[in-house]
Amino acid sequence: MGNMTDHPQKYASTAVVLHWLIALCILCNVILGIGANYAPDAWVRPIINLHKSIGITVLGLVLARVAWRILHRPPPLPEGYKRLERLLAHGVHASLYVLILAIPITGWIHDSAFAQAAQHPLILFGIIPWFRLGFITSLDPAAKEHMHSLFGAIHTYLGYVLYGVFALHVIGALKHQFIDKEREIQRMWL
Ligand code: HEM
Repeated sequence: MGNMTDHPQKYASTAVVLHWLIALCILCNVILGIGANYAPDAWVRPIINLHKSIGITVLGLVLARVAWRILHRPPPLPEGYKRLERLLAHGVHASLYVLILAIPITGWIHDSAFAQAAQHPLILFGIIPWFRLGFITSLDPAAKEHMHSLFGAIHTYLGYVLYGVFALHVIGALKHQFIDKEREIQRMWL
């Protein structure tokens, strides 16, 4: 099922599973990240802890996905796509890879620079103790505070960029599916 040799016009099942698993985790994290700003005080820490756990998981999944992508050639785009469309599609895909790597990394730097990091250990899903980034935790308190606010802001702004690039991604997929009548969504399905 979904094997590239059987269906050369679609992605292999490994790529499909990683694509949708990462998309689902990112959707959860956007909801949790924005929700934390509106949640009652007592919920903020548990929400952020879950957000960090999912975010570190996303980082691992994205690294696996990039490694897989380097080792495998994706199915070619359907013949009918114009040069500009191909350029746009590849540009949007490349931007998405950069964003889904940079967002968890900046979140992790922001978290590592948290002044009370030691009092709030990073324990993934309350089960797996995880590490902070040593080159950040070893900074002096003033530099740490600076990094904390700088990377918190970068993390948030990259989120805004992600919403825009994600919108282009979905609009492109829908255009190919419903206006060009290509089997576009089927390419990224089992
Ligand atoms: C899938 C990856 C991730 C996504 C999509 C994501 C997205 C977001 C979003 C949308 C916000 C809300 C920003 C706002 O206030 O508008 C946020 C906040 C936050 N994120 Fe992430 N994040 C991810 C990974 C991580 C990781 C790995 C960590 C830390 C280990 C982290 C730590 C934080 C923290 C501490 C905040 C609160 C920032 C503040 O208000 O000070 N995030 N994130």
